[in-house]
Amino acid sequence: MISHFDVPAALVIGAGASREVVPQLRRIGARRALLVTDAFMESSGRAGGVVRELEQAGIAVALFAGVQPDPTDGNVRDGLLAFAGGKCDAVVALGGGSSIDAAKAIAMMTANDQPLSQYQGSHKVPRAGAPLLVIPTTAGTGSEVTKVAVITDTARNVKMMMLDRNLLPQVALIDYELSLSMPPSLTAHVGVDTLTHGVEAYVSRKASALTDTLALECVRLVAENLEAAWSEPSNRAAREGMMLAATLGGMAFSNSSVALVHGMSRPIGAVFHVPHGLSNAVLLPTVTRFSLSGAPGRYATVARAMRLCGPDASAEAAGALLVEGLERLNARLKVPRLRECHGIERAGFDAAVGKMAADALASGSPQNNPVVPGAEDIIRLYGEAW
Ligand SMILES: [Fe+2]
Repeated sequence: MISHFDVPAALVIGAGASREVVPQLRRIGARRALLVTDAFMESSGRAGGVVRELEQAGIAVALFAGVQPDPTDGNVRDGLLAFAGGKCDAVVALGGGSSIDAAKAIAMMTANDQPLSQYQGSHKVPRAGAPLLVIPTTAGTGSEVTKVAVITDTARNVKMMMLDRNLLPQVALIDYELSLSMPPSLTAHVGVDTLTHGVEAYVSRKASALTDTLALECVRLVAENLEAAWSEPSNRAAREGMMLAATLGGMAFSNSSVALVHGMSRPIGAVFHVPHGLSNAVLLPTVTRFSLSGAPGRYATVARAMRLCGPDASAEAAGALLVEGLERLNARLKVPRLRECHGIERAGFDAAVGKMAADALASGSPQNNPVVPGAEDIIRLYGEAW
Protein backbone atom coordinates (compact mmCIF):
# COMPACT_ATOMS: atom_id res chain seq x y z
CA MET A 1 0.00 0.00 0.00
CA ILE A 2 1.29 3.49 -0.86
CA SER A 3 1.09 6.11 1.86
CA HIS A 4 1.56 9.83 1.39
CA PHE A 5 3.35 11.82 4.05
CA ASP A 6 3.09 15.61 3.97
CA VAL A 7 4.45 18.06 6.54
CA PRO A 8 5.41 21.76 6.40
CA ALA A 9 8.64 22.48 4.52
CA ALA A 10 10.22 24.02 7.63
CA LEU A 11 9.65 23.37 11.34
CA VAL A 12 11.50 25.57 13.85
CA ILE A 13 11.07 24.04 17.31
CA GLY A 14 12.15 25.15 20.77
CA ALA A 15 12.21 28.03 23.26
CA GLY A 16 12.36 31.30 21.33
CA ALA A 17 11.41 29.75 17.95
CA SER A 18 8.70 32.39 17.47
CA ARG A 19 11.40 35.06 17.24
CA GLU A 20 12.39 33.64 13.84
CA VAL A 21 9.36 35.15 12.16
CA VAL A 22 11.32 37.82 10.25
CA PRO A 23 14.12 35.62 8.83
CA GLN A 24 11.62 32.92 7.87
CA LEU A 25 9.33 35.41 6.09
CA ARG A 26 12.33 36.86 4.28
CA ARG A 27 13.37 33.37 3.24
CA ILE A 28 10.01 32.80 1.54
CA GLY A 29 10.18 36.25 -0.07
CA ALA A 30 7.26 37.87 1.78
CA ARG A 31 7.04 41.67 1.65
CA ARG A 32 3.47 42.33 2.83
CA ALA A 33 1.95 39.91 5.33
CA LEU A 34 -1.60 39.43 6.55
CA LEU A 35 -1.51 38.61 10.29
CA VAL A 36 -4.50 36.39 11.17
CA THR A 37 -5.36 36.17 14.84
CA ASP A 38 -8.13 36.62 17.43
CA ALA A 39 -9.35 39.37 19.72
CA PHE A 40 -7.52 37.96 22.77
CA MET A 41 -4.16 37.95 21.00
CA GLU A 42 -4.86 41.54 19.95
CA SER A 43 -5.94 42.78 23.41
CA SER A 44 -3.11 40.95 25.19
CA GLY A 45 -0.59 42.81 23.03
CA ARG A 46 0.96 39.69 21.54
CA ALA A 47 -0.32 40.42 18.01
CA GLY A 48 0.99 43.99 18.31
CA GLY A 49 4.41 42.63 19.17
CA VAL A 50 4.52 40.60 15.95
CA VAL A 51 3.27 43.60 13.93
CA ARG A 52 6.05 45.80 15.34
CA GLU A 53 8.70 43.17 14.70
CA LEU A 54 7.66 42.81 11.05
CA GLU A 55 7.31 46.55 10.41
CA GLN A 56 10.72 47.27 11.93
CA ALA A 57 12.15 44.74 9.48
CA GLY A 58 10.47 46.48 6.54
CA ILE A 59 7.67 43.92 6.06
CA ALA A 60 4.27 45.66 5.76
CA VAL A 61 1.44 44.15 7.84
CA ALA A 62 -2.34 44.05 7.50
CA LEU A 63 -3.99 42.84 10.72
CA PHE A 64 -7.10 40.64 10.77
CA ALA A 65 -7.96 39.89 14.41
CA GLY A 66 -11.54 38.75 13.82
CA VAL A 67 -11.20 34.95 14.07
CA GLN A 68 -13.95 33.42 16.26
CA PRO A 69 -13.44 30.37 18.53
CA ASP A 70 -15.24 28.20 15.91
CA PRO A 71 -13.98 29.95 12.77
CA THR A 72 -16.66 30.50 10.15
CA ASP A 73 -16.91 30.99 6.40
CA GLY A 74 -17.62 34.65 7.25
CA ASN A 75 -14.26 34.93 9.07
CA VAL A 76 -12.54 33.53 5.98
CA ARG A 77 -14.34 36.06 3.74
CA ASP A 78 -13.33 38.97 6.01
CA GLY A 79 -9.74 37.74 6.14
CA LEU A 80 -9.60 37.51 2.35
CA LEU A 81 -10.83 41.11 2.06
CA ALA A 82 -8.06 42.19 4.46
CA PHE A 83 -5.51 40.22 2.39
CA ALA A 84 -6.64 41.95 -0.82
CA GLY A 85 -6.91 45.37 0.85
CA GLY A 86 -3.34 45.10 2.14
CA LYS A 87 -2.05 43.79 -1.23
CA CYS A 88 -0.46 41.00 0.81
CA ASP A 89 1.75 38.22 -0.53
CA ALA A 90 1.91 35.97 2.57
CA VAL A 91 -0.19 34.98 5.59
CA VAL A 92 0.98 34.69 9.20
CA ALA A 93 -1.23 32.94 11.79
CA LEU A 94 -0.83 33.60 15.53
CA GLY A 95 -2.99 31.70 18.01
CA GLY A 96 -4.64 28.35 18.64
CA GLY A 97 -6.24 25.96 16.17
CA SER A 98 -9.02 28.40 15.27
CA SER A 99 -6.69 31.15 14.07
CA ILE A 100 -4.44 28.67 12.27
CA ASP A 101 -7.37 26.92 10.55
CA ALA A 102 -8.86 30.25 9.47
CA ALA A 103 -5.47 31.36 8.12
CA LYS A 104 -5.12 28.11 6.15
CA ALA A 105 -8.49 28.68 4.51
CA ILE A 106 -7.73 32.37 3.82
CA ALA A 107 -4.34 31.56 2.28
CA MET A 108 -5.86 28.75 0.19
CA MET A 109 -8.73 30.95 -1.05
CA THR A 110 -6.27 33.52 -2.45
CA ALA A 111 -5.65 31.06 -5.31
CA ASN A 112 -8.94 29.11 -5.55
CA ASP A 113 -12.13 30.83 -6.63
CA GLN A 114 -14.97 28.40 -5.91
CA PRO A 115 -17.17 28.88 -2.80
CA LEU A 116 -15.39 27.54 0.31
CA SER A 117 -17.85 24.65 0.72
CA GLN A 118 -16.61 23.20 -2.60
CA TYR A 119 -13.36 22.28 -0.87
CA GLN A 120 -14.96 20.27 1.94
CA GLY A 121 -13.66 16.70 2.13
CA SER A 122 -10.35 15.18 1.11
CA HIS A 123 -8.07 16.28 -1.74
CA LYS A 124 -10.43 18.86 -3.23
CA VAL A 125 -8.13 21.91 -3.37
CA PRO A 126 -6.61 22.36 -6.86
CA ARG A 127 -4.01 25.08 -6.13
CA ALA A 128 -1.69 26.11 -3.30
CA GLY A 129 -2.44 29.61 -2.03
CA ALA A 130 -0.28 32.35 -0.56
CA PRO A 131 2.61 31.05 1.60
CA LEU A 132 1.58 30.56 5.22
CA LEU A 133 3.73 30.85 8.36
CA VAL A 134 2.09 29.72 11.61
CA ILE A 135 2.90 30.42 15.26
CA PRO A 136 0.82 28.22 17.61
CA THR A 137 0.15 29.57 21.12
CA THR A 138 -1.51 26.44 22.50
CA ALA A 139 -0.42 22.80 22.74
CA GLY A 140 -2.34 21.82 20.97
CA THR A 141 -4.50 21.08 18.13
CA GLY A 142 -1.44 20.28 16.06
CA SER A 143 -2.94 22.43 13.30
CA GLU A 144 0.46 24.03 12.70
CA VAL A 145 1.71 20.85 11.04
CA THR A 146 -1.48 19.46 9.47
CA LYS A 147 -3.07 19.64 6.02
CA VAL A 148 -6.48 19.89 7.71
CA ALA A 149 -8.69 22.92 8.38
CA VAL A 150 -12.11 22.93 10.01
CA ILE A 151 -14.37 25.88 9.16
CA THR A 152 -18.05 26.25 10.09
CA ASP A 153 -20.45 26.60 7.16
CA THR A 154 -22.94 28.98 8.80
CA ALA A 155 -25.71 28.32 6.26
CA ARG A 156 -25.77 24.57 7.03
CA ASN A 157 -24.47 24.78 10.65
CA VAL A 158 -21.85 22.17 9.79
CA LYS A 159 -18.17 22.12 10.67
CA MET A 160 -16.55 21.48 7.30
CA MET A 161 -13.42 19.35 7.43
CA MET A 162 -11.05 20.05 4.57
CA LEU A 163 -7.95 17.93 4.03
CA ASP A 164 -5.49 18.70 1.28
CA ARG A 165 -1.75 19.20 1.05
CA ASN A 166 -2.49 22.63 -0.44
CA LEU A 167 -3.63 23.65 3.05
CA LEU A 168 -0.24 22.94 4.64
CA PRO A 169 1.69 25.84 6.18
CA GLN A 170 5.13 26.38 4.65
CA VAL A 171 6.70 27.25 8.00
CA ALA A 172 5.73 26.45 11.60
CA LEU A 173 7.47 28.24 14.50
CA ILE A 174 6.80 25.93 17.45
CA ASP A 175 7.72 27.79 20.63
CA TYR A 176 6.57 26.18 23.87
CA GLU A 177 7.27 29.43 25.75
CA LEU A 178 4.07 30.84 24.18
CA SER A 179 2.09 28.03 25.87
CA LEU A 180 3.32 28.88 29.39
CA SER A 181 0.42 31.31 29.88
CA MET A 182 -2.34 28.82 28.97
CA PRO A 183 -4.89 28.50 31.82
CA PRO A 184 -5.31 25.01 33.37
CA SER A 185 -8.69 24.25 31.77
CA LEU A 186 -7.42 25.03 28.25
CA THR A 187 -4.25 23.05 28.99
CA ALA A 188 -6.42 20.07 29.96
CA HIS A 189 -8.79 20.25 27.01
CA VAL A 190 -6.26 20.72 24.23
CA GLY A 191 -3.92 18.29 25.99
CA VAL A 192 -6.53 15.50 25.86
CA ASP A 193 -7.22 16.53 22.24
CA THR A 194 -3.52 15.93 21.56
CA LEU A 195 -3.79 12.52 23.21
CA THR A 196 -6.82 11.81 21.01
CA HIS A 197 -4.76 12.63 17.91
CA GLY A 198 -2.13 10.10 18.94
CA VAL A 199 -4.66 7.38 19.79
CA GLU A 200 -6.87 7.90 16.72
CA ALA A 201 -3.92 8.14 14.29
CA TYR A 202 -2.59 4.87 15.71
CA VAL A 203 -5.84 2.85 15.63
CA SER A 204 -7.06 4.38 12.33
CA ARG A 205 -7.56 2.16 9.31
CA LYS A 206 -5.27 4.62 7.48
CA ALA A 207 -2.31 4.21 9.86
CA SER A 208 1.12 3.57 8.34
CA ALA A 209 4.59 2.76 9.66
CA LEU A 210 5.59 6.45 9.65
CA THR A 211 2.47 7.65 11.44
CA ASP A 212 2.64 4.81 14.01
CA THR A 213 6.02 5.99 15.29
CA LEU A 214 4.83 9.58 15.67
CA ALA A 215 1.49 8.60 17.19
CA LEU A 216 2.95 6.37 19.91
CA GLU A 217 5.56 8.96 20.91
CA CYS A 218 2.77 11.55 21.08
CA VAL A 219 0.80 9.29 23.42
CA ARG A 220 3.84 8.60 25.60
CA LEU A 221 4.69 12.30 25.91
CA VAL A 222 1.12 13.23 26.90
CA ALA A 223 1.08 10.52 29.59
CA GLU A 224 4.38 11.86 30.92
CA ASN A 225 3.69 15.60 30.79
CA LEU A 226 0.01 16.59 30.70
CA GLU A 227 -0.80 16.41 34.41
CA ALA A 228 2.36 18.36 35.30
CA ALA A 229 1.62 21.03 32.66
CA TRP A 230 -1.92 21.30 34.08
CA SER A 231 -1.01 21.49 37.77
CA GLU A 232 2.19 23.56 37.37
CA PRO A 233 1.60 25.97 34.47
CA SER A 234 5.18 27.30 34.57
CA ASN A 235 6.76 23.82 34.40
CA ARG A 236 8.90 24.38 31.31
CA ALA A 237 9.85 20.74 30.76
CA ALA A 238 6.19 19.68 30.86
CA ARG A 239 5.16 22.50 28.49
CA GLU A 240 7.95 21.56 26.11
CA GLY A 241 6.87 17.91 26.23
CA MET A 242 3.25 18.81 25.49
CA MET A 243 4.22 21.12 22.60
CA LEU A 244 6.30 18.32 21.09
CA ALA A 245 3.42 15.85 21.65
CA ALA A 246 1.06 18.22 19.81
CA THR A 247 3.48 18.49 16.88
CA LEU A 248 3.98 14.72 16.62
CA GLY A 249 0.27 14.01 17.06
CA GLY A 250 -0.57 16.56 14.34
CA MET A 251 1.87 15.02 11.88
CA ALA A 252 0.49 11.57 12.74
CA PHE A 253 -3.23 12.24 12.27
CA SER A 254 -2.72 14.52 9.26
CA ASN A 255 -1.10 11.60 7.42
CA SER A 256 -3.16 8.79 8.96
CA SER A 257 -6.54 10.16 10.04
CA VAL A 258 -8.68 10.92 13.01
CA ALA A 259 -11.61 8.62 13.66
CA LEU A 260 -14.85 8.37 15.62
CA VAL A 261 -13.97 10.74 18.50
CA HIS A 262 -13.35 13.63 16.11
CA GLY A 263 -16.25 12.57 13.91
CA MET A 264 -18.65 12.84 16.88
CA SER A 265 -17.01 15.93 18.38
CA ARG A 266 -17.32 18.30 15.37
CA PRO A 267 -21.17 18.25 15.42
CA ILE A 268 -21.14 19.03 19.18
CA GLY A 269 -19.02 22.06 18.32
CA ALA A 270 -21.18 23.09 15.36
CA VAL A 271 -24.49 22.87 17.25
CA PHE A 272 -23.57 23.78 20.85
CA HIS A 273 -20.29 25.70 20.36
CA VAL A 274 -18.38 23.46 22.75
CA PRO A 275 -14.67 24.10 21.99
CA HIS A 276 -12.89 21.44 19.93
CA GLY A 277 -10.51 20.21 22.62
CA LEU A 278 -13.22 19.93 25.26
CA SER A 279 -15.68 18.04 23.05
CA ASN A 280 -12.96 15.53 22.11
CA ALA A 281 -11.85 15.11 25.72
CA VAL A 282 -15.43 14.44 26.83
CA LEU A 283 -15.86 11.68 24.22
CA LEU A 284 -12.48 9.91 24.34
CA PRO A 285 -13.15 7.31 27.10
CA THR A 286 -16.64 6.41 25.83
CA VAL A 287 -15.57 6.02 22.21
CA THR A 288 -12.46 4.06 23.19
CA ARG A 289 -14.58 1.54 25.13
CA PHE A 290 -16.82 1.10 22.06
CA SER A 291 -13.86 0.68 19.68
CA LEU A 292 -11.61 -1.72 21.65
CA SER A 293 -12.86 -4.89 20.00
CA GLY A 294 -11.88 -3.64 16.52
CA ALA A 295 -8.17 -3.33 17.30
CA PRO A 296 -7.41 -4.97 20.67
CA GLY A 297 -3.69 -5.30 19.98
CA ARG A 298 -3.32 -1.66 18.93
CA TYR A 299 -5.23 -0.35 21.96
CA ALA A 300 -3.06 -2.56 24.20
CA THR A 301 0.04 -0.94 22.68
CA VAL A 302 -1.45 2.48 23.49
CA ALA A 303 -2.03 1.35 27.10
CA ARG A 304 1.59 0.22 27.34
CA ALA A 305 2.88 3.50 25.84
CA MET A 306 0.92 5.32 28.56
CA ARG A 307 2.35 2.94 31.20
CA LEU A 308 -1.16 1.91 32.22
CA CYS A 309 -0.18 -1.76 32.23
CA GLY A 310 2.91 -3.94 32.19
CA PRO A 311 4.37 -5.54 29.06
CA ASP A 312 2.81 -8.91 29.90
CA ALA A 313 -0.83 -7.82 30.29
CA SER A 314 -3.23 -9.49 27.87
CA ALA A 315 -4.79 -7.31 25.17
CA GLU A 316 -8.15 -7.59 26.92
CA ALA A 317 -6.77 -6.53 30.31
CA ALA A 318 -4.73 -3.72 28.71
CA GLY A 319 -7.81 -2.41 26.89
CA ALA A 320 -9.84 -2.30 30.09
CA LEU A 321 -6.99 -0.53 31.89
CA LEU A 322 -6.76 1.99 29.01
CA VAL A 323 -10.44 2.97 29.32
CA GLU A 324 -10.07 3.22 33.11
CA GLY A 325 -6.91 5.30 32.69
CA LEU A 326 -8.60 7.71 30.25
CA GLU A 327 -11.55 8.14 32.64
CA ARG A 328 -9.18 8.76 35.55
CA LEU A 329 -7.19 11.31 33.51
CA ASN A 330 -10.38 13.24 32.64
CA ALA A 331 -11.46 13.20 36.30
CA ARG A 332 -8.07 14.46 37.53
CA LEU A 333 -8.01 17.24 34.92
CA LYS A 334 -11.62 18.18 35.83
CA VAL A 335 -12.88 17.52 32.28
CA PRO A 336 -16.68 17.76 32.67
CA ARG A 337 -19.30 15.30 31.46
CA LEU A 338 -21.15 16.31 28.31
CA ARG A 339 -24.20 17.37 30.41
CA GLU A 340 -21.98 19.79 32.37
CA CYS A 341 -20.60 21.59 29.30
CA HIS A 342 -21.66 25.23 29.04
CA GLY A 343 -24.66 25.80 26.79
CA ILE A 344 -26.00 22.23 26.53
CA GLU A 345 -29.32 21.21 28.05
CA ARG A 346 -31.01 17.84 27.64
CA ALA A 347 -34.01 18.84 25.52
CA GLY A 348 -31.90 20.65 22.94
CA PHE A 349 -29.42 17.80 22.93
CA ASP A 350 -32.10 15.17 22.35
CA ALA A 351 -33.57 17.27 19.54
CA ALA A 352 -30.18 17.63 17.82
CA VAL A 353 -28.72 14.17 18.29
CA GLY A 354 -30.14 12.71 15.05
CA LYS A 355 -28.64 15.50 12.90
CA MET A 356 -25.38 15.24 14.87
CA ALA A 357 -25.09 11.50 14.15
CA ALA A 358 -25.82 12.07 10.45
CA ASP A 359 -23.25 14.89 10.24
CA ALA A 360 -20.68 12.75 12.08
CA LEU A 361 -21.10 9.94 9.52
CA ALA A 362 -21.06 12.39 6.59
CA SER A 363 -17.65 13.73 7.69
CA GLY A 364 -16.04 10.39 6.84
CA SER A 365 -14.04 10.17 10.08
CA PRO A 366 -16.11 7.38 11.73
CA GLN A 367 -15.36 5.15 8.73
CA ASN A 368 -11.66 5.13 9.75
CA ASN A 369 -12.52 3.82 13.24
CA PRO A 370 -11.53 0.25 14.24
CA VAL A 371 -15.26 -0.47 14.77
CA VAL A 372 -17.31 1.39 12.14
CA PRO A 373 -20.54 2.59 13.78
CA GLY A 374 -24.01 3.10 12.36
CA ALA A 375 -26.16 6.12 13.18
CA GLU A 376 -27.86 4.20 16.04
CA ASP A 377 -24.46 3.40 17.60
CA ILE A 378 -23.45 7.06 17.45
CA ILE A 379 -26.71 8.20 19.05
CA ARG A 380 -26.19 5.65 21.83
CA LEU A 381 -22.59 6.78 22.36
CA TYR A 382 -23.67 10.44 22.62
CA GLY A 383 -26.09 9.25 25.31
CA GLU A 384 -23.34 7.34 27.17
CA ALA A 385 -21.10 10.43 27.16
CA TRP A 386 -23.96 12.58 28.47
FE1 LIG B 1 -8.37 17.47 17.44
